[in-house]
Amino acid sequence: MDERWERSILAVPASEPRKVEKAVASQADAVFLDLEDAVPPDLKDTARAHAARALRELDWGGKTRMVRINGLDTPWAYRDLVEVCEAAGAQLDCVIVPKVSRPEELTFVDILLAQIEARVGLRRRIGIHALVETAAGLARVEQLATASPRLQALSFGPGDFAASAGIPSSAIGTEDQWDVVYPGHRWHYPMMRVVVAARAAGLRAFDGPAAEFRDLEAFRRLCRVARSLGFDGKWCIHPAQIPVVHEVFAPTEEEVEWARKVVTAYEQAQLAGRGALTVDGKMVDAASLRMAQATLARARS
Ligand code: COA
Ligand code: MG
Repeated sequence: MDERWERSILAVPASEPRKVEKAVASQADAVFLDLEDAVPPDLKDTARAHAARALRELDWGGKTRMVRINGLDTPWAYRDLVEVCEAAGAQLDCVIVPKVSRPEELTFVDILLAQIEARVGLRRRIGIHALVETAAGLARVEQLATASPRLQALSFGPGDFAASAGIPSSAIGTEDQWDVVYPGHRWHYPMMRVVVAARAAGLRAFDGPAAEFRDLEAFRRLCRVARSLGFDGKWCIHPAQIPVVHEVFAPTEEEVEWARKVVTAYEQAQLAGRGALTVDGKMVDAASLRMAQATLARARS
């Protein structure tokens, strides 16, 4: 895992240059220029040219620079990789591959990227971020997570997953009347599988978008659920969602204070030859130390 620790990933259609400029100037930790579902078929070619220009010419201010290519079952994906990476591969941190259903798709992207990098003389390897959003992809998620050394992260895509699995859902990643029907959290299974597969392979995990962007309290609830399950961050489709993601996915002052207390108390106990101790009425041992260290690492980043 590299040292980047994004919380927010803002989506923007690559075919809309004005919006792209705003996205690149936003507070998001990462921005992806979408060539896929936010771009209509007749704009796919111009969107690639816009994406390459935005990568080369705009000031990204340290943000992670991403492009989402079209699915590998479309006539566009290979041209997305070739055209964008040949023109602006040096300014691109990673490609998001949507609707990944088989590890071979990631192998294909890996091999094609290697050829492009060799041809244009790129010294830095372009990363891959795989989008798990089909029933077939979820069923093979562990294989996807280890399919390429370029992989940096997995994201869960709720809209396409609902469509693929036959789950009723009125708007992408948004609470609706079906959520109260299921006695539990109905996205728990796919979300947890994505987190576990990502972590087992040393990758980061992100929760996908929520289409309802005006109700920020509902969005905050979705963020908190994702954080509670272990996700590192969440996609944003609108700039208003960014501060909510940043707030929810950063450890609170209380969490940091508690973590420091646990580390200090644990170290002292260890010097005294003890591996289990009590802090504020709670048992602390080596597992608590690891939890505390994870909180502090996240706070530092
Ligand atoms: N990135 C950058 N700027 C954005 C933005 C985004 N994702 N979404 C909205 N904005 C800008 C708008 O251009 C507008 O700017 P302006 O005031 O200068 O005109 C401002 O934020 C306010 O936008 P608002 O009027 O609230 O929304 P809208 O109706 O213009 O756009 C969407 C709504 C959903 C169409 C738009 O947010 C969007 O395109 N989102 C990304 C969609 C996408 O990429 N989907 C695929 C991945 S899931
Ligand atoms: Mg999708």
